[in-house]
Amino acid sequence: MKGLILSGGRGTRLRPITFTSAKQLVPVANKPILFYGIEALQASGIREIGIVVGDTHQEIRDAVGDGKRFGVSVTYIQQDAPLGLAHAVLVSEHFLGSDPFCMYLGDNLIREKLAPLVTRFREEKPQSQILLARVPDPTQFGVAELKDGKVVRLTEKPKVPPSDLALVGVYMFTAGIHDASRAIKPSARGELEITDAIQWLIDKGHTVRPHVIDGWWKDTGKLEDMLEANRIILDTLVPRTDGTIERSDITGKVVIEAGARVVASSVRGPAIIGKGAQIENAYVGPFTSIGDGVIVRGSEVEHSIILEGASISDIGGRIESSLVGRNVSIYRSQHKPRSFNFMLGDRSEVGLI
Ligand code: G1P
Repeated sequence: MKGLILSGGRGTRLRPITFTSAKQLVPVANKPILFYGIEALQASGIREIGIVVGDTHQEIRDAVGDGKRFGVSVTYIQQDAPLGLAHAVLVSEHFLGSDPFCMYLGDNLIREKLAPLVTRFREEKPQSQILLARVPDPTQFGVAELKDGKVVRLTEKPKVPPSDLALVGVYMFTAGIHDASRAIKPSARGELEITDAIQWLIDKGHTVRPHVIDGWWKDTGKLEDMLEANRIILDTLVPRTDGTIERSDITGKVVIEAGARVVASSVRGPAIIGKGAQIENAYVGPFTSIGDGVIVRGSEVEHSIILEGASISDIGGRIESSLVGRNVSIYRSQHKPRSFNFMLGDRSEVGLI
């Protein structure tokens, strides 16, 4: 069985971060989202993984390499335009051959272990096995209708959802999905939808087995989802201190990486402080990921993701529910007249009080 991770896509809902970085490389608890997917496939026994990449291919290649450090071998597959998930399957045909495979959307995170699902799929050999999760707003996803434990219909982003069962971005297929992907037409959004390809299998009388997952699932396309994923993963951390702590108060699950310094500060977990970060006269509150080399001085940060190399100094207020990009600098200006001074990238968002 092979793995196929989709890591193209433009990440428009995470701009401006995705102007300079692939959305799958935005870290959750200081680890790129994409790595969780690779690790999940590896833990399920899969050793050969194809990663479908688009415009951001170089950055993804640089981050993942040949896969050795994850214990897998990675083949990169170029998708020239984001024309849909079934299109991604088509461009991967030379890599997949006639093998069954598990397709994993690179911006998805799930708690449930894949190994038992992979085993069941191998043993029972349905044409496809899909993962479903109950969600409050199914209109944003593919939605499944079940009857007597079987999938009878799948609809992509229906206005009136037939159920609350959303398609999770982890699918298992046999080679029949190639014909299905070739047979379907582009959807209203101009994409070859995997949802339609699976529906084609159902229409042809093939077995598509549903599995409603236990535990959480996150599609991290938007800021709120990203912060929520960060919150959930941080909560699973095992506390550890490899850095130095001076005159500070550390409570709850906190990871302090090597070379990090926490001085005259208060850190309340769950939180992670990246390698070489400097926290001084500061408060780092629950559900916060502080990236490598970040400086937080005379400031308060909570429920946020601060990426590598950013610096936050003397801001005199608390940053909350925020995603701060790499090497961003936020500081109190000493210039007169007193005014706000910004240099913001396109589509940045600033919430003032
Ligand atoms: C895609 C699929 C959708 C699925 C979702 C899961 O949506 O088309 O059926 O529920 O992933 O993350 P997209 O992210 O392309 O909007």
